[in-house]
Amino acid sequence: MNINQASDSIDTRLRTGQPWNDIHSEALESMSSPRGAQRGMGSILSNASQVFILTDENVAPFWLPEVAHWLHCDSAIDIVIKAGEQHKNLQTVQRIWKVLMKHHADRNALLINLGGGVVTDLGGFAASTYKRGIKFINVPTTLLAMVDAAIGGKTGIDFGGAKNQIGTFADAEEVLINPDFLKTLPTRELLSGLSETIKYGFIADSKLLQADLENYEQYILPAGEIKREIVAQDPYETGIRKILNFGHTYGHAFESHCLAMDCPLLHGEAVALGMAAALWLSVKQFGLNKNTLLDFEKQLSLLLSEAEIAFSESDADSVLSYLVHDKKSKGDQPRFVLLKAIGEPVWDVEVEPSLVREALDYVITKVQKR
Ligand SMILES: NC(=O)c1ccc[n+]([C@@H]2O[C@H](COP(=O)([O-])OP(=O)(O)OC[C@H]3O[C@@H](n4cnc5c(N)ncnc54)[C@H](O)[C@@H]3O)[C@@H](O)[C@H]2O)c1
Ligand SMILES: [Zn+2]
Repeated sequence: MNINQASDSIDTRLRTGQPWNDIHSEALESMSSPRGAQRGMGSILSNASQVFILTDENVAPFWLPEVAHWLHCDSAIDIVIKAGEQHKNLQTVQRIWKVLMKHHADRNALLINLGGGVVTDLGGFAASTYKRGIKFINVPTTLLAMVDAAIGGKTGIDFGGAKNQIGTFADAEEVLINPDFLKTLPTRELLSGLSETIKYGFIADSKLLQADLENYEQYILPAGEIKREIVAQDPYETGIRKILNFGHTYGHAFESHCLAMDCPLLHGEAVALGMAAALWLSVKQFGLNKNTLLDFEKQLSLLLSEAEIAFSESDADSVLSYLVHDKKSKGDQPRFVLLKAIGEPVWDVEVEPSLVREALDYVITKVQKR
């Protein structure tokens, strides 16, 4: 490994014992500039016995050499996995563990996860379990991973046909954000991340509701900061962290339904549908200003513009059945994050079954009319 960092680059966060993924403004600045990132990363890299870079087959050709060079670890060992959610499983984790073992990685080895949420979830899980945990760094390359998946300490894999069934809470040492990665990201994936970015607008800061395809870059760091602050208050999701699931109760049900129908929706697309339903319920249940819902209808068309959705009334029954089996439900009663106003979310809300259905019908009608 060739590391050219100066030895005086010991990051103050290490000395103060603050977690490295406690992304404060100074670090955020450094993250968007390669030079700054090199400086901040110096001590992590120089303390590592070996460096491994995990990425997927789509990201590797664009960014693997660049990033290895950028971080001054050209001789890091690459682990390139197949792309896609269907590979976020135990087999892939085993492959990663085997590569680590083959190269005699010890407890001071470092794993750099370069990719979207699949790579950061998988890599975080593999690292946090190998030899009871080695350090890892997330370098998210999708908008969704930059504003959400790479931050907050949840790692995991899909198992037994269900998403994120096995996982750990483990913090990345550092999350390096560089919007340049998004230049090669397909628009549909960008829109998926935009949906999660807009989510923060509803739950925390209305400015983020302005995010669109032209200006999203300026909202990446504020969105990440909101997630970081919420997670810091409630790392294990016993209370306020649940607001990050705004739009997700319906969203997961749409996702599961579409997966079963062989017309998979991207996560952010499902969340966009879910947010529309949650806003509708918020108007009914908490008197949320109806204009908030009407304004979102326009954004919904954009967020779904690259998706191939053709719902009919009959789909509502199926989505509803997934909804009552949502893991956040107690018994058969789904629970929702709703809004009293923009920036005033309420969690664990139970809603009359008839309204749950009406909200779903509202969304399906909107999508049909697109
Ligand atoms: N841990 C968390 O808190 C958390 C939060 C939200 C989502 N997630 C997880 O994140 C995953 C979804 O993440 P995602 O949307 O980033 O999906 P992803 O990782 O599958 O990436 C989407 C696609 O884009 C490709 N790609 C990635 N970066 C690229 C780039 N710069 N240029 C070209 N192609 C690129 C990938 O190869 C893939 O095909 C899900 O598994 C979800 O469960 C985790
Ligand atoms: Zn999400």
